[in-house]
Amino acid sequence: MSTAGPPSAPAPTVVLGVSGSIAAFKAVEVARHFVRAGVRVLPAMTAAARQFVGPATLAGLTGERVAGDMFEPGLAGEIHVALARAADVVVLCPATADLLADLAAGHATDVVRAVALCTSRPIVVAPAMHPAMWAHPATQRNVRTLLADGRCRFVGPVEGEVASGETGLGRMAEPLDVADVVLGLLRQGARRDLEGVRLLVTAGPTVEDLDPVRFLSNRSSGTMGFAVAECAALRGARVTLVAGPVGLPTPTGVTRHDVRSALELDAVLGALLGADLSGADALVMVAAVADYRPAERAAQKLKRSGAPLTLTLEPNPDILAGLGAVRRGGRPLLVGFALETASGPELEAIARAKLAHKRVDLVVANGVATLEQPESSDVVLVDEAASVPLGRLGKRDLADRILDWVAVRCRS
Ligand code: C5P
Repeated sequence: MSTAGPPSAPAPTVVLGVSGSIAAFKAVEVARHFVRAGVRVLPAMTAAARQFVGPATLAGLTGERVAGDMFEPGLAGEIHVALARAADVVVLCPATADLLADLAAGHATDVVRAVALCTSRPIVVAPAMHPAMWAHPATQRNVRTLLADGRCRFVGPVEGEVASGETGLGRMAEPLDVADVVLGLLRQGARRDLEGVRLLVTAGPTVEDLDPVRFLSNRSSGTMGFAVAECAALRGARVTLVAGPVGLPTPTGVTRHDVRSALELDAVLGALLGADLSGADALVMVAAVADYRPAERAAQKLKRSGAPLTLTLEPNPDILAGLGAVRRGGRPLLVGFALETASGPELEAIARAKLAHKRVDLVVANGVATLEQPESSDVVLVDEAASVPLGRLGKRDLADRILDWVAVRCRS
């Protein structure tokens, strides 16, 4: 892989934790992809994994000793701590049902489990097991726990033939697919250009309650804001994420505050930024803040009747414009989003008007295709100097383009 930085920069490093599945032989191919890409691979194997693949294979391929015994005589210091510190990404490949259960419970009974518990870096997990084990409620519960903890990213399992000869969902993802996800994370992590930048990100919808069971909201999934938060943390930023109600796991290394309504979002941002707005270097305001809220929130459930119902709505504060109005001296940098049904020059004109009206530094304008095709959208970045059409981009790529802009502006 191409690594940014001077030639003396240390090679990106993965700890490859192998657990005891017949798919363990595939870890060898994953290691080979890493080595070819110039990545340093520090292998660690569970006792069961050694029943399937010889440590000599991984040692020979990677040029590193294979960690296995936490209590090996003659080892200085704690091997799992050293490995966790060295890793840019920890890869658990293959990951058995038992390993997932231990990770979810926080067990550290061998070196692979201990590294996973000790690291603060992303963990890529490639499960491999019989489909019945994958589908078991206990395994699914463990996967949900791990996703909610926000440390693990799963690659697979996939549908296909498993060791027993049966077919189902449980087969390990292809080694190249596992390696691609890890190399992508390393590429982002190699760019530590936001080191120390205090970044505040808002994400998701706001929910405006009508009564104890009904509300007004919008379709925002939160994935764009979470992608910005995750990519920024990988690039070294100190990220605080303020999220409306979404079912997404907190990205690794990100501090999260959950809010519900626009007024709550406003209050939390106010507390985090402080009266002089000195609490962050940049704010990326991705949240789809509801423009209106019910003038009254009924204490009891509104009763159905045959008569038409008229709701009175009152405007929410424009949080971003409010910050733009009180900001002095260009900090924090303010980035707004504009989701519009317009496209082309009209979209750009709307974004430019928003830039001026809200007194922000960058507006990320999305064509409304985002709603229909959640994974890609027509995007233009508009700042005071230029408009940069980006075409259709996935959310993570768009997050990185926005952060490129933030990184440059933070230095100027
Ligand atoms: O005006 P419009 O809703 O299109 O502006 C979108 C941008 O303004 C987004 O960055 C959004 O987070 C922010 N916004 C806000 N407060 C509102 C409405 C939108 O901060 N009440």
